Amino acid sequence: MLHVILLECAIELVPRELTSLKEIQAHARRRRKKPGQLMLDQTHHGRAMIRLDGKEKRGRPDITFLSLLSILETPLCKAGLLTVHLHLVDGRVIEISPDVRLPRNYDRFVGLFEQLLMNGRIPPEGEPLARMIDTSLPDLISNLAAGSGESLLLLAIENGTKTSAKSLRSILPQDSTMPVILGVGAFPHGDMSNSVKELFSTHLKLDKEVMMAWHVCAEVLWTYSSRVGVTGRL
Ligand SMILES: C[S@@+](CC[C@H](N)C(=O)[O-])C[C@H]1O[C@@H](n2cnc3c(N)ncnc32)[C@H](O)[C@@H]1O
Repeated sequence: MLHVILLECAIELVPRELTSLKEIQAHARRRRKKPGQLMLDQTHHGRAMIRLDGKEKRGRPDITFLSLLSILETPLCKAGLLTVHLHLVDGRVIEISPDVRLPRNYDRFVGLFEQLLMNGRIPPEGEPLARMIDTSLPDLISNLAAGSGESLLLLAIENGTKTSAKSLRSILPQDSTMPVILGVGAFPHGDMSNSVKELFSTHLKLDKEVMMAWHVCAEVLWTYSSRVGVTGRL
């Protein structure tokens, strides 16, 4: 199984300290929502965000959107060999159903995830497509790794061990029953927190350049899919 965790995702509702600002209120009126019900987004709230602590890591829900699009509805997902979780900066964890068909349109994604952040689940009734779960990141990782004897805890990170495409393939197991947990940062700038980094035993640098989170997700997912024989047999 490949378990992808998007780490420190830059998704959150507009925080209380910004809700009274004119530009936020104007945006809320255009969206027919209350300011605190809007997804924080640098595209719309960049000027207001100057006041926020850790602003360089916040307000980029498009990173989570594109990363999810790159891994859901893939052959691996359809084979039942993928799980996906989002870890938020405040420590909360969201479980994404592998059956979810994400909107292709970014604005619709934002609307849906605003509901998720407000109500803790989407849709409000019935089988959840995404929901907040009551667990911490360390507990999530230990639960995903539990069961079989061995597991791999991989963190994709700019200053990790240089790993070519060929080495990545050889690190990944052919046996799909071994849990492989992949952490990828879903924030735009700044460093990953040490408390998150130290949860992963193997740190991989996959290119000499900084990569987009969704490219990292796609590279590892397709390499893993071919390694376990889900793709590549034409
Ligand atoms: C745009 S980067 C975020 C940049 C941020 N400075 C950092 O240290 O994570 C998004 C994520 O893609 C992954 N990433 C970026 N470049 C990488 C590389 N060269 N090798 C492996 N993973 C990389 C990391 O997980 C990173 O958190």
